[in-house]
Amino acid sequence: MASIAIIGTGYVGLTTGACFSHLGHDVVCADIDADKVRRLSQGEIPIVEKGLDRLVDEGLRSGNLSFVVGAAEASKQAEFHYLCVPTPQGTDGAADLSYLEAAAAEIGPVIPDDSVVVNKSTVPVGSTRVVARVLGRSDVAVVSNPEFLREGTAVADFLQPDRVVIGSQDQEAAIRVAALYSRIAAPIMVTDPVSAETIKYASNAFLASKLSFVNAMATLCEAVGADVNDVVLGMGYDSRIGREFLRPGPGWGGSCFPKDTKALAKIAEDAGYNFRFLDEVLLINDEQFDRTAQKVIDSVESNLVDTHVAALGLTFKAGTDDLRDSPAIEVLQRVRDAGIQVKAFDPAVLPGENRLATVQPGLDIEVVSDPYAAAEGAASLVILTEWDEFSWLDFDKLAEIMTGKNIVDARNLLDPTIPRRRGFNYRGIGR
Ligand code: UGA
Repeated sequence: MASIAIIGTGYVGLTTGACFSHLGHDVVCADIDADKVRRLSQGEIPIVEKGLDRLVDEGLRSGNLSFVVGAAEASKQAEFHYLCVPTPQGTDGAADLSYLEAAAAEIGPVIPDDSVVVNKSTVPVGSTRVVARVLGRSDVAVVSNPEFLREGTAVADFLQPDRVVIGSQDQEAAIRVAALYSRIAAPIMVTDPVSAETIKYASNAFLASKLSFVNAMATLCEAVGADVNDVVLGMGYDSRIGREFLRPGPGWGGSCFPKDTKALAKIAEDAGYNFRFLDEVLLINDEQFDRTAQKVIDSVESNLVDTHVAALGLTFKAGTDDLRDSPAIEVLQRVRDAGIQVKAFDPAVLPGENRLATVQPGLDIEVVSDPYAAAEGAASLVILTEWDEFSWLDFDKLAEIMTGKNIVDARNLLDPTIPRRRGFNYRGIGR
């Protein structure tokens, strides 16, 4: 079994570290945040990620997993060094590589001879070369091994992946990285670093494009009187299209798709190709936020005073507590800009938490601890995140406590006949 240093304990680094330790490797995870390292060392997980707490606990108990402050501390005795630091979007749309370069500069002088540095962070095409230059070590191979982990199912995605992609100029280093996954049953693809980096961006941008297509289809379905749910079902039977990633919604978001789609457009521009298609994919998504917000605004009857909209869901999708680039927040900002008050409930967001203010400063909404507390006195209710519990709302109770009988189901989560039977005016997306 190999010794692995993981630099950065965000959701990618922590999942990668915990899963490698579960596979039997000896893993040391590093972060710059001493308090986070202390809490992780006690098994306290800062994110909602199914199954991760169990793996971290297992690793801490077996001694396969530990946490330290500082990249150099983790790397000085490891054979593999996984760079899992953030690559936020810079002002020009390109990814900001400063964390990556700082990590490489820190470990360069201390890593053992002939070890392998692995880029796991989503980095612009060509970054493997940047890391190699900053490391300044001719004996160390730099390999790209992009992640395809979804928040909420990251552990399962790591342990049962569709594929493992390894990009390396050095065949021996690629084989050594592939061996880390020997207990995983998945195709392992070895290519050059530039192609591996491109596969990551192409995959995210393609999935985002699929969603913009579906959301545009939903708009068309509304115009022609078709039901988008049936349309995508009918499309999905075609194995060339597939059933996955065809759910229309309020727009797509999260910490990856918007950032990576913009970054790919910038990569193309820098390389001399105008990837107009991606501009349109992004534009359609913005329009979807606008269109969903307009449905909510239209659902509030103008003669109602002292009322509000009840918003169910704030996270960017169900199964995570992540609020970054959340479509729910995009929509609610537009609703607030129209002068409408909002009371929101999300099972993963506590009233009084300041995370909302961090991701969307100035968004003035009240967060409550129960869906019915949000609905009390509301003119309209909007479902923005597809949490399962929102499928089981008590419409008799909602009819009693709401001042208006309006539902906007931006995730097509409900069977429309149920609220309609209780006299609600129901509007979904594309149906
Ligand atoms: C995404 C990719 O799916 C992962 O493969 C990738 O590794 C990850 O980004 C990353 O680059 O790190 P994630 O951001 O966790 O994962 O979220 P997704 O599950 O892909 O959802 C993204 C957005 O699309 C969400 O807002 C979600 O609600 C929306 N979505 C997804 C739909 O509106 N409809 C669908 O059918 C699926």
